[in-house]
Amino acid sequence: MNEALGSVLYLVAASLFIFGLKRLSSPLTARSGNLMGAVGMLLAVVLTLLQADIIDYTVIIAGILVGGTVGTLLARRVAMTGIPQLVAAFNGFGGAASGMVAAAEFLENAPSEVETAITVSISTVVGLATFTGSFVAFGKLQGLIAGRPMLFRGQLFFDSVLVAGIVGTGIWMITSGDRTALWLLIALAGLLGVTRTLPIGGADMPVIVAFLNSMSGLAAASTGFVIGSHALIISGALVGASGLVLTAIMSRAMNRSLANVLFAAFGGNGEGRPDDAGDGSVIRATIEDAAVTLAYARNVIVVPGYGLAVAQAQYAARDLADRLAERGVEVRYAVHPVAGRMPGHMNVLLAEADVPYKQLLDLDEINDDFPRTDVALVVGANDVVNPSAREDPSSPIYGMPILDVDRAATTIVIKRSLSPGFAGIDNPLFYLDATLMLFADARAALEDLARAVPEA
Ligand code: TAP
Repeated sequence: MNEALGSVLYLVAASLFIFGLKRLSSPLTARSGNLMGAVGMLLAVVLTLLQADIIDYTVIIAGILVGGTVGTLLARRVAMTGIPQLVAAFNGFGGAASGMVAAAEFLENAPSEVETAITVSISTVVGLATFTGSFVAFGKLQGLIAGRPMLFRGQLFFDSVLVAGIVGTGIWMITSGDRTALWLLIALAGLLGVTRTLPIGGADMPVIVAFLNSMSGLAAASTGFVIGSHALIISGALVGASGLVLTAIMSRAMNRSLANVLFAAFGGNGEGRPDDAGDGSVIRATIEDAAVTLAYARNVIVVPGYGLAVAQAQYAARDLADRLAERGVEVRYAVHPVAGRMPGHMNVLLAEADVPYKQLLDLDEINDDFPRTDVALVVGANDVVNPSAREDPSSPIYGMPILDVDRAATTIVIKRSLSPGFAGIDNPLFYLDATLMLFADARAALEDLARAVPEA
């Protein structure tokens, strides 16, 4: 293909990535944004296949078939709650692919120019550390590895020595072109990915997944320089930048710095174990109590959390809201930026159940309305409505912005027990006089409530 035409088409692919990303910022346009990105990627792949000096297509076709089948099966089978793990695995493979392409280039052409060798070493280190780090994150999210922070004595010193070893080996590789140095670099980078991810608590895994996503982009961009691929440089830079922005948004939503997330070994086991459940007394509500409270309210704010996702209760929430709306109750949804286990988790679920977008309000938009609200209905949310984040300086989540459901006239909390949420800490909201605890599975409770609300 004509080189100038090829460059123009690569530019078209890059533009599709950029406009696709832009459209991902609103649920209304996200589907088309996703499609745009996919079309851009298809274009980039086809162009590469047409342009590069490919000797044999057999392996490439086999790769497309295997990769395409695995990707399609995974995308169809994985539950919404398993998406963070899936993204972690994709990041890991992305990092490994970038690192391996760069390493192959070095093995083929070493000793190469110093600039190329430097870029190869960066791609290899970042790519391989991303690979192993992402699979540790995958293991924690999937429950294959304990979610609690895993540290050993002198870990920071060990990691510092490891980093120094990586820098030293990188310099050896760059100056000598020795292939042994490359293999050593791969091993040390892989080890660093493991030792840096294990000490991070399960509760912080989504942030780490976004961070590793950013790293996989960096590795891809750097590999783009090694093999002279503009498409890889641009797409890698976009992934790197957007992953970093996402990491910053999530850290800010938890009022933590990235350094604190990376080095503070924060949080419980990430599995909601009742390791710190309080022993105060709570007011238990029956389905009938809760149904009457909701039915005679003027306005209700539904606060969805991780439990709603696990129970797949989004449709039941919508049905209950419809039922209440028929009675003239104003129903809106308050979505906390880190509710659930991944960015936009609640928006995606509620959109799936056709909840109108204008009823979904962000924390900033709705928080001031709680004091004027008759009922806050908390469905499987815990940390994002924990008042100690606002009031208790000794709380590990102190400073994290929360939804002020405790300021509503009545708060109904649907969850199965008094178990803590992801952060592993007790929630004083449950023991307040204005809080009714409805202990049940979120979906069953919402379905029962919809049936129990009297007709208009
Ligand atoms: P959590 O605080 O994790 O609480 C979820 C609650 O859901 C649990 O207390 C659990 O209590 C309940 N639950 C589980 N299964 C249920 C079911 N089938 N029916 C009813 N309830 C059920 O959730 P949240 O309030 O959404 O907070 C999210 C947490 O994740 C925060 O700590 C946040 O910092 C962290 N996090 C999120 C993100 C993103 S991007 N979303 C990123 C980083 C960290 P029971 O076991 O008693 O039912």
